[in-house]
Amino acid sequence: MQSKIPVGILGATGVVGQRFIQLLENHPWFEVAWLGASERSAGMTYAEAAKWRLKTAMPERIAHMKVAAAAPDGAPRVIFAALDAAPAREIEPRFAQAGCAVISNSSAMRMDADVPLVIPEVNTDHVRLIERQGSRKATGGFVVTNPNCSAIGLVIALAPLQKKFGIDKVLAVTMQAVSGAGYPGVASLDILGNVIPYIANEEAKMEEETRKLFGTLDAGGVRPADFAISAQCNRVPVEDGHTESVYVALQKKAAADEILAAWREFRTEPQELKLPSAPDPAIVVDAAPDRPQPRFDLDRGAGMAVSVGRLRPCNVLDWRFTVLSHNTIRGAAGAALLNAELLKAQGYLGD
Ligand SMILES: NC(=O)c1ccc[n+]([C@@H]2O[C@H](COP(=O)([O-])OP(=O)(O)OC[C@H]3O[C@@H](n4cnc5c(N)ncnc54)[C@H](OP(=O)(O)O)[C@@H]3O)[C@@H](O)[C@H]2O)c1
Repeated sequence: MQSKIPVGILGATGVVGQRFIQLLENHPWFEVAWLGASERSAGMTYAEAAKWRLKTAMPERIAHMKVAAAAPDGAPRVIFAALDAAPAREIEPRFAQAGCAVISNSSAMRMDADVPLVIPEVNTDHVRLIERQGSRKATGGFVVTNPNCSAIGLVIALAPLQKKFGIDKVLAVTMQAVSGAGYPGVASLDILGNVIPYIANEEAKMEEETRKLFGTLDAGGVRPADFAISAQCNRVPVEDGHTESVYVALQKKAAADEILAAWREFRTEPQELKLPSAPDPAIVVDAAPDRPQPRFDLDRGAGMAVSVGRLRPCNVLDWRFTVLSHNTIRGAAGAALLNAELLKAQGYLGD
């Protein structure tokens, strides 16, 4: 039996770090061998350092592991990173320079010209940008990123429409869960019984990341897709799950049946390669008029499937519909894990 690849988690104590631990428990290819966090946590056991927020128990083996400082000495060659953006900008390149494959959730480097921003269902070809990174040439290390948690659901829902009909314009209005802000995140007095119509930098991230994900590789990096997109982002008192109202104009006119078929038939590389974390189907189409809802529909495909529903004609653009995705699984740790599985399948993580 082949042994598993040892992996590390940077930012292991946070909301996304905990999801990594949960998703990597019993993973067929990867095994957690190292945990890193801030100076606050370094030297403690994981059980002492982390305020565990998940419904499954903290794995016993992990609870006893010591948390290291966020430096590459002694860390394994494959690192899942869930650091806040400011420290990520400093720390992730150090790991890449030390020869690590850094599979990052942070926004810090997503838009860098030589850094792939990848959803395995959408743009596997962008992975090749790795070869343009200085660290890759020097030590073999590199950084690959996954998108923001609100961009990923939108882009997966749009991907079959872009492929079959072409996208002309998109409007998206989000209702985003509190877990998207990390822990402790938004104060309960600010969010209980309330809606906050502002999430710092989120709208710009949704817009620019969506266009990069649908972009074309060229000599300068990725030439963004040229459709117009406008996003409005709201924080709502939901624990997990980002819901989005989406309006789209298509380049080629499509009937409702054709759009529904495009969603239902959407199978790409992760499903064909049977990557361990790939949901199949990647998109679940809801027929009920009042679905999808985060309370009931969030865990489809073990939190990796994107739900769409309420497709109907729009009086302003062509079509409108609702999208739901799990922000800390499909929108964060699960997205990075699927990227790692793709990288392994493509030979970027060694044999
Ligand atoms: N939550 C989501 O739904 C979501 C979705 C997509 C992407 N993301 C992104 O993923 C990243 C992590 O988010 P999160 O929600 O997990 O945040 P979080 O709960 O606040 O956790 C942050 C993690 O970063 C560590 N950290 C903070 N400052 C550090 C430093 N200077 N050096 C080393 N480690 C440091 C913390 O360690 P200590 O515990 O030791 O302080 C903790 O492990 C962010 O970039 C976020 O934007 C989050």
